Amino acid sequence: MAGANGTAHRPRSHRRPGAAAGDQGRRLVRLRSQAFILCVEYPLSAKEMVVALHGVVEPADIATEEQLCGSVAVTLSNEGLALLTTRATRKGNGACGRVGWPRLLSAPARQHHCRRCSDRKRWRRLDEPRRADGMSGDCPAGRVVRVDLDDTAARLGVPVEDVNRVHLLAGDGASAPLPAKADAPAILDRLAVRPDDAAEIMAGWPDPGSPLWTPELRWLLDRSIALVRADLGGHGWLPPGPELPRARGPAWRHLYVYAYLALVDVVTGYHRDHGVADAVSWVTLADLGRNLAIDRRMHGEGWPVMQSWLTLHTRGGVYELGRLQHHRGGTAIDLHIPESGPMTPEAVAASLDQARAFFPRHFPDERYTAFSCSSWLLDPQLQEYLPGDSNIVKFQRRFELEPYEQPEGLDADVEVQRFVFRTLTTPLDQLPRRTVLQRAIVDHLKAGRHWHWRRGRIPV
Ligand SMILES: CC(C)(COP(=O)(O)OP(=O)(O)OC[C@H]1O[C@@H](n2cnc3c(N)ncnc32)[C@H](O)[C@@H]1OP(=O)(O)O)[C@@H](O)C(=O)NCCC(=O)NCCS
Repeated sequence: MAGANGTAHRPRSHRRPGAAAGDQGRRLVRLRSQAFILCVEYPLSAKEMVVALHGVVEPADIATEEQLCGSVAVTLSNEGLALLTTRATRKGNGACGRVGWPRLLSAPARQHHCRRCSDRKRWRRLDEPRRADGMSGDCPAGRVVRVDLDDTAARLGVPVEDVNRVHLLAGDGASAPLPAKADAPAILDRLAVRPDDAAEIMAGWPDPGSPLWTPELRWLLDRSIALVRADLGGHGWLPPGPELPRARGPAWRHLYVYAYLALVDVVTGYHRDHGVADAVSWVTLADLGRNLAIDRRMHGEGWPVMQSWLTLHTRGGVYELGRLQHHRGGTAIDLHIPESGPMTPEAVAASLDQARAFFPRHFPDERYTAFSCSSWLLDPQLQEYLPGDSNIVKFQRRFELEPYEQPEGLDADVEVQRFVFRTLTTPLDQLPRRTVLQRAIVDHLKAGRHWHWRRGRIPV
């Protein structure tokens, strides 16, 4: 890792078993079978480095309190890469930097080489028809795709870096087919997708000859599925691809929903491998319908976060057990509270109990010592407004709060409006004042005060 910001710290390397030697000022990472160079321009602390790479910190993992600013070569998962980026680019304490886009070591940056074919000239243009079996016409061994990233990005209306990220993270990994169109209505129903959203999804279905689906959209759908699938079992937040201009039509609007549908079979297989009951699989995956309905209420404002959130479901990272969603990873189970009616103390207690039995049974290799939650719901300032017997206040009392730290890249005032009013942009004066909470949110902000995003823990 480079000390590119000129810090005075002594360069050190932090090696884990299996890590390879690195080169100065650069970082060698291996994603599945692909090797990359990744430049990092901010030295992470030893603890952050371990968390970024492994998601878990044990005392023995941390060899030093000093910052790491030597060079180091490691093995990264998709998740590690996302975490590393988040942590390296956070602001505060003067520590703000950049993680460059990984650059492929072994292949020309803009080309995908068919490994078995070994004929580098056999590229399939995006607009060239694909064979029914998904292979390009002239390559007997597999799919060969030539992607002009600049052109693809321009046609998709997104930054080229975002397209490059998909290209690199998905690599030539396996995609997954969508369910048969005839089966889709029943599946959408099982996923709690409401009739208006289901109708739109069916109307935009990526049929082979559909004019709604440009070659670029088809490429992105295919590679987005591969990108998420490559991290099956992962539990970090993983954007499935760029934020699309969704107003362009149903294919644009629901591209990541089609990816979700393609991954349902993959993730239910993963669940079965872990002995997870069908009922848990489907209630968990039915968060798709809930999110689509909320996004409709939010006139599309909610989707950019939802498209990343929902990759946790299709990778087996989140399980809905009773009232709460339980998110694997690290040493704590992260709790999420879906919008599904009041959050009574009894329902919360039952859900925690379910999780206490669920994780040791289905993920015996993972050891959890706490439940954790990061939310506007844990802001003690709410107690100034809510009655002592409110469910939110009772929920708060379960947690031991960590000291307040302003979170990076997240504005709690905006998040409160997301969850309480389902809007991010309505002026304060126009927000409804129907419930005690709604009045509290508005009055607090109008008084010039701010809401806080707080993090707390409950021992398992
Ligand atoms: C978490 C949640 C279930 C709590 O609801 P609850 O169990 O009714 O909570 P309380 O008993 O503490 O409610 C106290 C008051 O606030 C109101 N209230 C609670 N959550 C509200 C919400 N999201 N929007 C509007 N009003 C809300 C209640 O109606 C009640 O007001 P009233 O007495 O005037 O009717 C609810 O806020 C919700 O569904 N939130 C969306 C999901 C969310 O925020 N998840 C966390 C993301 S980090």
